[in-house]
Amino acid sequence: MDSFVIQGIQTLSPAELNAWSDKRLELVEEALSNWVSPDAPAGLGQAMRYAVLDGGKRLRPLLVLAAREAVANGVQDKTLDAAALRAACAVELIHAYSLVHDDMPCMDNDVLRRGKPTVHVHFGEAQALLAGDALQALAFELLTPENQPTTSANTLSHIPDEVQARLCRLLAKAAGFNGMAGGQAIDLASVGLALNEQQLREMHRLKTGALLSASVMMGAACGNISAQTWGCLERYGQAMGLAFQVVDDVLDVTADSVTLGKTAGKDAANDKPTYVSLLGLARAQEYAEQLLHEALKALEDSGLKSAHSLAALAQRVVNRKT
Ligand code: IPE
Ligand code: IPE
Ligand code: MG
Ligand code: MG
Ligand code: MG
Repeated sequence: MDSFVIQGIQTLSPAELNAWSDKRLELVEEALSNWVSPDAPAGLGQAMRYAVLDGGKRLRPLLVLAAREAVANGVQDKTLDAAALRAACAVELIHAYSLVHDDMPCMDNDVLRRGKPTVHVHFGEAQALLAGDALQALAFELLTPENQPTTSANTLSHIPDEVQARLCRLLAKAAGFNGMAGGQAIDLASVGLALNEQQLREMHRLKTGALLSASVMMGAACGNISAQTWGCLERYGQAMGLAFQVVDDVLDVTADSVTLGKTAGKDAANDKPTYVSLLGLARAQEYAEQLLHEALKALEDSGLKSAHSLAALAQRVVNRKT
């Protein structure tokens, strides 16, 4: 292992993190391409694949896999690794669906996403709506594979029912009324309003933090950890998840559309309350750093010995330029 240490905990250098994530992303991309079938009727498959494949930072799948590795702590279990890969893809499908709907004219009305025209621009509004619906359903299908008889050629045993149920519950809660969808409702209801810090934090916690945090907890659910360690990972996920949206607000102001692959400056144009509108640019950036510190402290408190990729991903969240 490397000797890269921050705040007393082991992490990866940016180059090591790239090498770590390149390997995992190969698996994720292949699995997504296999699972999102082009065969859905009447062009729906093409719209779904357009929404999911060839783009995106894949941060949520990486968080699932990093958390799985942290809780596995070097102990091999192919069944739980398979569950984690399914969870990684499932959360990315929910994320992709949320982006398709977020960009629609009835929401943020965006024409550019992941460097391409948005799904409704390319395929029409009705198909975009349905692609989002179908991606959401597919996510839960991935988490509940049918029991396959174990043979000598197939050494992967069935993912235990209780693990499947736990993964479904974590993802459903994070996607629903008390998570992403609820946060998006607050976002739309807040156009033109000056939210106070507590209201803004709540909106961001739900619309973005919930799925990022659930990514960590789904990885953690593919292993056995104490309630205390579980609680530390929740703290890590919440701090990192909020930091993610604070940085998204910052980048909307500081970055350009080509770099972002989505239209910069949209928050001010749509009169959305953000951390930049509330605190100003410099204090919003400082707040993201403070949240990174909190996330790393939670990892330190977890006592996990293999949390270096989680630490490095939190740093990537805050230092990212896109
Ligand atoms: C963008 O998420 C939407 C928010 C939740 C702020 P990402 O920045 O992770 O988007 P991709 O997946 O890389 O395109
Ligand atoms: C969207 O937040 C969060 C989602 C649930 C998709 P934003 O509206 O700020 O995301 P971007 O900036 O369009 O990616
Ligand atoms: Mg939005
Ligand atoms: Mg948007
Ligand atoms: Mg944004």
